[in-house]
Amino acid sequence: MAIERKSLLREVPLFAGLEDEHIAALAAMLVEKRHRKGSVIFFEGDPGDALFIVASGMVKIYRVAEDGREKTLAILGPGDIFGEMALLDEEPRSAIAETLEATTLFSLHRKEFLAFLSANPARAIHIIKVLCGRLRQANAQVMDVIFRDVKSRVARTLFDLAERHGTRSPQGVRIELKLTHQELANLVGTARETITRILAEFQDAGCLTVEGRHLVIRDQEALDAFALAE
Ligand code: CMP
Repeated sequence: MAIERKSLLREVPLFAGLEDEHIAALAAMLVEKRHRKGSVIFFEGDPGDALFIVASGMVKIYRVAEDGREKTLAILGPGDIFGEMALLDEEPRSAIAETLEATTLFSLHRKEFLAFLSANPARAIHIIKVLCGRLRQANAQVMDVIFRDVKSRVARTLFDLAERHGTRSPQGVRIELKLTHQELANLVGTARETITRILAEFQDAGCLTVEGRHLVIRDQEALDAFALAE
């Protein structure tokens, strides 16, 4: 079990390059917990006292508007971390974290996390890089919402999903997430009906096929033409 945990930790980019003894010390501090699909790990506004690492499964990070509509900020998979913001700025949780499937998480308490970061600047730089990546993505999303039409945003979201959660198959790039139209709508920031209409259009144009609940990008160039159109 300890060995399994150590080899899992080696797969986490934040811990890459750690020596055996450090991995072992870290493994001893982490709390492992399995969650069913649909479990809320924390709510927006909760106090934050731990960081989470996705060992397996998927976690959705999202916010809910006053009228109940949801905006998905990110879908995280194995090796990703979340919950670092409240630990670092001591503000409440900035979003809700909920599992999209059965998921195993490791958690690390604030004190241990801060000690881990302070021990080596490279670790702090890694966290800063994660935060920079999220800020870049958030900036890109703001630009897209203001300057791009919804069809282009759907195409760009599909490319993002393919990059983060895609595998190559003879048919094209298969997105390994089982997303409902509503979940895709929450990610893009539009209505479910709009997603249904646009996905049908992409299928008619030969860019996309649906295998069960998986989307497969068949013709990247054709989809790119939709992504670039304003
Ligand atoms: P925290 O604010 O502690 O709790 C919510 C977490 O969601 C936050 O830390 C980040 O880890 C994560 N998060 C918030 N916004 C984004 C985003 N735009 N992209 C990816 N992860 C995010």
